[in-house]
Amino acid sequence: MNHKDILENHNPTKTRSWKKLNDHYQNSKNKTLKDHFAEDNNRVNRFSLEVDKMYLDYSKNLIDKTTMELLYDLAEEVNLVDGIEKMFSGAFINKTENRAVLHTALRAPEGATIEVDGENVVPQVHRVLTKMKTFVSQFDQGSWKGFSGKEITDFVNIGIGGSDLGPVMVCEALRPFHHPNRRVHFVSNIDGAHLTKTLDGLDPETTLFIIASKTFTTIETMTNARSARDWFLKAGNQQDVSKHFIALSTNTEKAVEFGIDLENIFEFWDWVGGRYSLSSAIGMSIMIAIGASHFEELLAGMHAMDTHFRNTSPNQNMPVILALLGIWYTNFFGSETEAVLPYDQDLHYLAMYLQQASMESNGKSVDRDGQQVTYDTGTIIWGEAGTNSQHSFFQLLHQGTRLIPCDFLLPVNPNHDLKHHHNLLAANAFAQCEALMNGKSEDEVKSELQGQGLSTAEIEELAPYKVFEGNHPTNMILLKQLTPYTLGSLIALYEHKIFVQGYIWNIFSFDQFGVELGKALAKKLEPEITGESKPENHDASTNALVSRFKEWKKY
Ligand code: F6P
Repeated sequence: MNHKDILENHNPTKTRSWKKLNDHYQNSKNKTLKDHFAEDNNRVNRFSLEVDKMYLDYSKNLIDKTTMELLYDLAEEVNLVDGIEKMFSGAFINKTENRAVLHTALRAPEGATIEVDGENVVPQVHRVLTKMKTFVSQFDQGSWKGFSGKEITDFVNIGIGGSDLGPVMVCEALRPFHHPNRRVHFVSNIDGAHLTKTLDGLDPETTLFIIASKTFTTIETMTNARSARDWFLKAGNQQDVSKHFIALSTNTEKAVEFGIDLENIFEFWDWVGGRYSLSSAIGMSIMIAIGASHFEELLAGMHAMDTHFRNTSPNQNMPVILALLGIWYTNFFGSETEAVLPYDQDLHYLAMYLQQASMESNGKSVDRDGQQVTYDTGTIIWGEAGTNSQHSFFQLLHQGTRLIPCDFLLPVNPNHDLKHHHNLLAANAFAQCEALMNGKSEDEVKSELQGQGLSTAEIEELAPYKVFEGNHPTNMILLKQLTPYTLGSLIALYEHKIFVQGYIWNIFSFDQFGVELGKALAKKLEPEITGESKPENHDASTNALVSRFKEWKKY
C-alpha cells in the first residue's frame, strides 16, 4: 500500500442506501419499541452480540431487520472496510495533519509489522514499553529514591485533554487494581486551585511529577509544570529535578530544555493522536498505579477489540454496529445527544473521557472534499454513573421531550465484597432500560391511582403527569467484570465507533483545529489583563469584561 493513501471522499447523503434509509425512516418512524418486540420474537438473538468478555444487547433500539441491512449497505457503499484497512496499515488518513493514525500499533504484539513511511513502528513501540516497565520496576523494588533518599509514594500526572482524561479515567476505573503504596494524582486545569489542592499535603521528598504532553508546549501543562517545579525547588535543588520529574512526549528537545533527563523522557510519535494516546507512554501513570502486567492486560484487551474490529464483517462487528445506530438516530431521527451511563462507580469518568474522544474527533463541519457538510455530524456525549444519574437527569430521559439514545454499561461481577449492593445496582440498570422502553400507559396509571383510593376527578387531574411514554432506545453492554482487559476492550470499542462515524460522515476525525482560535486569543488577552500590553480593540463586550476584571482585581 502507498502510505500516502488517504480516505475516500464520499457524501453519505448521496448514496442509494441513505435515500433508502430516509424512506425507511418515514415508513417506520411511528413504530414503537413495543411494536418491534411484538413483531419479531427472535429480536434479542438477532440484535445481540458477544465479543470476548463483553455482551451487547441492542434489541431495544428503534430498528428492524431492514434498518440494519440498509445501514450495512451504507457502510458498504462508502467502502468502510477500505477505510478500516487504511487506518490499520498506516496510511496517512489524517490528511489535514499529513499523518498516519496508528494508536492500534501501540497494542500490537511484538512480532507484528506495521509500517509508516516504510519503517516498521512496532519495535519502537515495544522499546518504549520495555523502558516504561523498567522504570516502574524501580518503584516495585524500592530502588528509585527521591533526593533525600526516601521512596516515592505520590505521583502527579500533569497534562490536559488526551494527556489527562484517558489516564485519569483508567486509573479511576481500575482503582481496585492499584498498588497499595502508590497514590496517583492528576492536575490538568490552569486554574491554580487544581495544582494547589493537589500539592496540599504532598511532600516534595516523596513526590514525582509526570509531565505528560505530546507537544510539550500546551499552556496549561507547561504553566502547571513550572509551578510544580517551583514548589519542588523550595525543598530540593536544581540537580534533584531529574529524580522528581519525568516527561511523556513526542517533543524530546523541549522536555530536555525543561530540565528533564533524556533517559527519563518516554517518547511517542506523531501518529498517536492525543485523545487516542492512553496506550502509549501517556499511560505511564496507569502503569505506575496498576503495575506493568495489568497495563499489559489493558493493552491485550484493546488489541483483542482492534482485531475484532479489523477482521469482522460489519453485521457482527460491535464498534460498527454501535456507530451505525448512532448515525441512524443522529441523521434520521435528528437526535442530538447520546448518554453514556456506566453502572459502575469506578467508571464515573467514562463520559468525560468519551466527550473528548468523540467530540474533538467528530465535531467537524467541513467534509473530506473541503465542502461544508449538509448533514449533522458529531454527537454530543454526556452522562454519569448510575444510580446517581437516576436521581439527577433521568427525569428528563423518561418524561422530557427529546430522543436521547443511551448506552448502559454494567459489569456482572463487582470488584468489591458488597455483593448485595451489586444485585441492586444490576436490578436498577435493567429496570431503567425496561422503563425507558415500555413506559407506563395512562390506563396503568389510572388503575394504580384508583388502587390508592383517589377520586375520579383527582385521577383525571393527576394521571397525565404520571404517564411514561416509553419508547426510549437503549443499548446494554455487559462486561463479565471490570478488569484491565475488559476496560481495554471497552475503550477500543468506543475508539473504533468514533472512527466509523467520522468515516461515514466524510470528515477528518483526527485533527482538532477547533481548539486553536480560543488558545490564540487567550495568548493575546493575557498581557492585556496583566497590564503588560495596551488593550487591543476587541468587541465591546470583551473590552468591557477586561476593564471590569482589571477594576475588580486585587492582586
Ligand atoms: O485540546 C487540544 C489538544 O491538542 C488535545 O487534542 C490534546 O489531547 C491536548 O490538547 C493536550 O495536548 P498535549 O498533549 O500536546 O499537551
